[in-house]
Amino acid sequence: VNEAIEVTLARWKARIDGELARVASNGIALPESLRDAVHYSLTGDGKRIRGLLVMASYDALGGTRDASQLAAAVEIVHAYSLVHDDLPCMDNDSLRRGRPTTHRAYGVAAATIAGVAMVALAVTQTVRAAESLGLAPATSRKLVMVLMQASGATGMVGGQLMDLENEGKVVSVEQLEAVHRAKTGALIAASLTMGGLAAGGSKQAVDDLARAGESLGLAFQIHDDVLDATSSSETLGKTAGIDAALSKSTYASTLGVDAARQKGDKLVADAMGSLKAAGLHNGPLMELARFVAARQS
Ligand code: IPE
Ligand code: IPE
Ligand code: MG
Ligand code: MG
Ligand code: MG
Repeated sequence: VNEAIEVTLARWKARIDGELARVASNGIALPESLRDAVHYSLTGDGKRIRGLLVMASYDALGGTRDASQLAAAVEIVHAYSLVHDDLPCMDNDSLRRGRPTTHRAYGVAAATIAGVAMVALAVTQTVRAAESLGLAPATSRKLVMVLMQASGATGMVGGQLMDLENEGKVVSVEQLEAVHRAKTGALIAASLTMGGLAAGGSKQAVDDLARAGESLGLAFQIHDDVLDATSSSETLGKTAGIDAALSKSTYASTLGVDAARQKGDKLVADAMGSLKAAGLHNGPLMELARFVAARQS
């Protein structure tokens, strides 16, 4: 790996972490349990892949300002999705980012409400980020639309419901792909789209980013399934083997681990190929794409 790219990504991640910590500390007027549950959920030790994809796409389309506020908006939605994903009525998980899940630490009611509060927080964060990047109101509106459409019933939330409804069932690989594209792919594609929009990219360039993002997003969840089946809770910082325990259909259970890995690798290679063909092959974006199916946690 190119050292300069590693340094850039580490610098960007530190900025996203700093922004999340700042947002997390702003809930002074909130009731204590809600404030603490939001703070805990936002400041957990995540990889910040989605935020980094926002910053890399912004950079790839010629953006020159600090897009970490916008990156944090996507990470706020993602962090909320994890809080709810772990709830007893969903995956009923107790370990996340190397610590007890939010509902284990603060109770189910505080975690549920904290999650919903974070959706609202993500919208205000997006509008503020657009303002600080000096973007026109029309661009700000598009950013909110892209983020909320990826988060809602036709994206992440809808995918999460299908995921739960499929527990204990044998589903086809086509159905599984639809679930994965919705529950995880949509928000990852939105990350690239938002970075491109914020940079003022052409419709063509933003569409190219979105399409690559869809492939990367599907690959990301396929690899998550593989890691669940092959790694340890200690390495992942979350409960390994929980998919089998919950009788989830995953790429690992449906295709087998090796074929799932190959499918993920191919999707990443295709995405990298189309980014290259579109002239969008800046170092950080390519490195993040490579990381999607090469990561160990
Ligand atoms: C986990 O996402 C949930 C999925 C959509 C697979 P990440 O693997 O990006 O989790 P963090 O943010 O690094 O904790
Ligand atoms: C969750 O998929 C996807 C989300 C939208 C949160 P998983 O349930 O596999 O995510 P992990 O493995 O708990 O992080
Ligand atoms: Mg889940
Ligand atoms: Mg889960
Ligand atoms: Mg998983």
